[in-house]
Amino acid sequence: MKLKNKVALITGSSQGIGRAIAERFASEGADVVINYSGNAERAQEALQAVEAQGRRGIIVQANVGRTDDLKKLFATALETFGRLDILVNNAGVETHAPFWEITESDYDKVLNVNLKGTFFATQEFVNHLRHTNRRGKIVNVSSVHEELPFPNFTAYCASKGGVKMLTRNLSVELGPLGININNIAPGAIETPINTKLLNDPAKLNALLGQIPVKRLGQPTDVANVAVFLASDDADYVTGATYYVDGGLTWNYEEQ
Ligand code: BGC
Repeated sequence: MKLKNKVALITGSSQGIGRAIAERFASEGADVVINYSGNAERAQEALQAVEAQGRRGIIVQANVGRTDDLKKLFATALETFGRLDILVNNAGVETHAPFWEITESDYDKVLNVNLKGTFFATQEFVNHLRHTNRRGKIVNVSSVHEELPFPNFTAYCASKGGVKMLTRNLSVELGPLGININNIAPGAIETPINTKLLNDPAKLNALLGQIPVKRLGQPTDVANVAVFLASDDADYVTGATYYVDGGLTWNYEEQ
């Protein structure tokens, strides 16, 4: 077991990639703080999946884009488990619209959850580790779009580009404290964020044509890499981005 008796907080873990990470971490021996913003029922299912692995879990409702919610999230986690060893900044949202139609509220929603949430959750976690004089691991679930343009998703790309630089910067600042921080950059993974695309055969086929391994990714494909980055095996890995995209990012085919 790679995460035996560790305690992990995973934002946005009621569904999709976060949920798979919660379940997989529990199967590697970790207790898990499940966070959700909207769907309490799905959070319950995630908790049951963690408990089915024989580990403890709690559910905390919080919108990570709000710092007062984040403080409550960390306080509840620490009251319950006494400590945290791993933070996974997974919660993410996107809006699909041409640049000229994006409203301030669309922008705020995306940037607040994806970038501000990652920033201040990391700050809470780092302060906890500093005050308890312990080492820890941070895994950010970014996107291939921290690097690749994605027309009609400019706010999303800006947020993920921000997460990329946050990770690089903090690897330097937190390295001396024994805190590792890395990104996973998923490509096209079958999750609720992709529902519209999955239901549009033309778009889906065009996308599959771009993926060298010829399939969509599954949440477990991402969770497997998250286990590695959260474990002692990754003690010398920091400031890196791991692409989990079936080859999508570097594929260029001239038709
Ligand atoms: C986005 C998806 C998109 C995928 C590949 C992800 O970051 O959330 O909507 O399909 O990247 O482009």
